[in-house]
Amino acid sequence: MENFTEFLNRRKQLLNLIGDGIAVISNSNESSRNRDCNYPFRSDSYFHYLTGFPEPAAVIFLVGGNKPKSIIFCKPKDKSKEVWDGYIYGPKEAEKKFLFDEAYALNDIDKLAPKILEGYIADKNIYCLPTNILSNSAILTSKNLFKWTHADAESEYCDLSIILDEMRCFKSDTEISIMQKSANIAAQSHIYAMGKTRPGKFEYQIEGEILNQFIQSGARNPAYGSIVASGINGCTLHYVENNSILKAGDLLLIDAGCELENYASDITRTFPIDGKFTSPQKDIYQIVLNAQKEAIKKVKPGNFFDEPHKAAIDQIINGLVDLKLLKVSRDEIIEKKLYMKFFMHRTSHWLGLDVHDVGKYNNSLKKEDLTPIKFKNRNILTVEPGCYIKPSKDIPEEFWGIGIRIEDDVLVTSDGNNVLSSNAPKEIADLENVIGILNE
Ligand code: GLY
Ligand code: MN
Ligand code: MN
Repeated sequence: MENFTEFLNRRKQLLNLIGDGIAVISNSNESSRNRDCNYPFRSDSYFHYLTGFPEPAAVIFLVGGNKPKSIIFCKPKDKSKEVWDGYIYGPKEAEKKFLFDEAYALNDIDKLAPKILEGYIADKNIYCLPTNILSNSAILTSKNLFKWTHADAESEYCDLSIILDEMRCFKSDTEISIMQKSANIAAQSHIYAMGKTRPGKFEYQIEGEILNQFIQSGARNPAYGSIVASGINGCTLHYVENNSILKAGDLLLIDAGCELENYASDITRTFPIDGKFTSPQKDIYQIVLNAQKEAIKKVKPGNFFDEPHKAAIDQIINGLVDLKLLKVSRDEIIEKKLYMKFFMHRTSHWLGLDVHDVGKYNNSLKKEDLTPIKFKNRNILTVEPGCYIKPSKDIPEEFWGIGIRIEDDVLVTSDGNNVLSSNAPKEIADLENVIGILNE
């Protein structure tokens, strides 16, 4: 997003919500990989959401009240550092380009922060991201706040994540358009990988084709470690070794998504390595595909978050009973959750700046109330049922090692849904048409 007014508007919205409070948010730090080499830097998602400012070592203060203002502290200009690490905005340019009211060098933060925070009280009106959430920003902010506010480490600041998570759950037009592009790139990369698949290659070679397609399309990073899992590896849900040889007769499960302007796509497709489903593979595939389609139908405003999951379970139970892979009554299967031997994960998660994005799934304000929340226009989630059959003596051998997941990214619209990743084929005939068709 080259237009920074959207970030400014988010800060204004947040300032409105915190009234006369003050919010403090840091970006993450760089992290060392080994001597003199860092991991590629990626901004903390909350910090990015509010600023678009791409440098590490930056902190913002959003000061509420009658005259709300936003302040950024960032690295000072340093010509000798820029020789090695490239351009540094410095406070002056950061203020102008990223639309802050005030900007200072980070070296001055210990001097200025206590003054900015004067008069605010930790549990009354100082908002930050608590350290118990998975955010690098949370850890850095809390550590610094203890110092600046002289609060003891036990002191509990107001929880900013409750407000920010709710905001991030509803995607703006700009966010939807970026996520559509992210899904398009990922879908096209999956099609390319299907075309390059043939027996005898290593899983990591297919991973390489996907990552190359991401980069060629302008998405420099994957949104998470790509899963390229052939045969029984597909039954390990987060398999990332990707170092087995592809064998004719096996399936290949690819779970890969890219990150575009910090927004994730998350797509899974499963298809036969030699281009033709065997009969047992086709049977299981069709069950998962039906489950996924029925689940997607349940994504619409007003429906509960668990409705897609329930629809998927229903289809998977029916299919497995028909195939006699589950041999007791439906009631017993549901009561004892026997389907979990084959389908042991949830069907959906929120998707956004983080692949497993923020946002609540239950009305957890009251601890005892676990009613799932309802879908609303502009939510984005994945729908990803699966079926994984490990070798076991009560299962006919022809089904052993079949691991199938089908995953799409779905936007809730005002009257239903829109599948952002629909460019990636998933019908059996469409898959069989593209596997292995690209030359070396
Ligand atoms: N790629 C991780 C997931 O599908 O949730
Ligand atoms: Mn996935
Ligand atoms: Mn997912």
